[in-house]
Amino acid sequence: MRLTVIGTGYLGATHAACMAELGHEVLGVDVEPDRIAALRSGRLPFYEPGLDELVAKHVASGRLRFSTSYQEAADFADVHFSCVGTPQRADGNGADLRYVDAVVETLAPFLTRPALIVGKSTVPVGTAARLAARIAELAPAGAAARLAWNPEFLREGYAVADTLHPDRLVFGIDPAAPETEAVLREVYATPLAEGVPAVVTDFPTAELVKTAANAFLATKISFINAMAEVCEASDADVTQLSRALSYDERIGGRFLGAGVGFGGGCLPKDIRAFRARAEELGVGPALAFLGEVDAINLRRRERVPALAEELCGGDLTGRRVAVWGAAFKPESDDIRDSPALDVASRLRRRGALVSVYDPKAMDNARKLHPELDYATGALEAAQDAELVVHLTEWAEFRALDPRAVAGVVQTPRLIDGRNVLDVAAWRAAGWSVRSLGRP
Ligand code: UDX
Repeated sequence: MRLTVIGTGYLGATHAACMAELGHEVLGVDVEPDRIAALRSGRLPFYEPGLDELVAKHVASGRLRFSTSYQEAADFADVHFSCVGTPQRADGNGADLRYVDAVVETLAPFLTRPALIVGKSTVPVGTAARLAARIAELAPAGAAARLAWNPEFLREGYAVADTLHPDRLVFGIDPAAPETEAVLREVYATPLAEGVPAVVTDFPTAELVKTAANAFLATKISFINAMAEVCEASDADVTQLSRALSYDERIGGRFLGAGVGFGGGCLPKDIRAFRARAEELGVGPALAFLGEVDAINLRRRERVPALAEELCGGDLTGRRVAVWGAAFKPESDDIRDSPALDVASRLRRRGALVSVYDPKAMDNARKLHPELDYATGALEAAQDAELVVHLTEWAEFRALDPRAVAGVVQTPRLIDGRNVLDVAAWRAAGWSVRSLGRP
């Protein structure tokens, strides 16, 4: 099939390359000429394992091309995926839909033949119905220009695998256009043939699946982090608690990793936007608990500087602190709402001299936090440090020899903000270690 993918950020670039991998002819469209120029030469503006190879492969095969022209998009294909971002609004109150709206406002006037726009962005429930009406209004093809909603659940760091082999596909279909289901089934013929389940539903349910999934995941993380707070007050160990819980199949072990909590471009903003939308719908109390989920998450970020002060005798002023990690999670260079950088800034505000190292996110971190110091490696960051704080669980940090690191620091003190380091090995090498939620 011929498809366009509008928006070439994490979601769009991944979707475009994966659709080409599934055998489709794809035109990626973005309003930023620099981004399009980079993609045309097979370069990605962010780090995502395996994606640069896939983009380069299909730019070379000719199945993946890029353009800044909506006219070209409308001429090229009759199925258009909208993959633009829905950031948090500047006032913090809900999702900013300007990019989602702009795709429809710009593309629809070019739709002279029957066509389908497929929304993939995470949007407040009710958006799709509004957009469908707008498309019919703006398109010369009128009601033959349709909308479907097909939310995306990919995780950064696993974006390619998640797109090619999703857990499920959700098709939100306009009851006035039932024929659009067959179009989506054709697009996703390969994963469907491999047994990926499809949930075919209406617009609002499709929109809600995505926000509900992210709200559930955020709640799971904040649940275990709330348990970590209780563990800290009662000398219990949250990692053992979490492991014991995980054997109960009704609970499951994933997203029960206690630590500095969730960040990134999705979970934090999505739970806030979901709450704001529930308020608008008059069901605010139903999602009031998400305010608590957010508050627990932010409290964990403040816990690290408090622990650091305890470990360093009450005052961080002038103390050298190494921060390992800047990305919001490993296998990503994304620093949006990163707990690691937030904690680094909090340590600095308390007077610490902070040296940050991350395997992939250094350039992004430098741009956002020029006030912090940056090192070129984990050992360099730890040089003469009085405290090392581990905040993003890259494999590189787990592989470090605690004795080698002890050799370069001033004082061997460690906070494991992700509960993944082998604490016994670090203690055996002479380190004082504190973790979140452990004695
Ligand atoms: C998330 C959803 O998982 C994905 O389905 C959706 O499409 C987009 O949002 P992503 O933001 O890429 O994906 O990251 P994810 O792997 O979900 O992690 C989110 C945050 O939670 C990270 O900061 C991670 O470190 C943290 N986390 C995750 C924990 O603190 N503990 C855990 O047990 C798991």
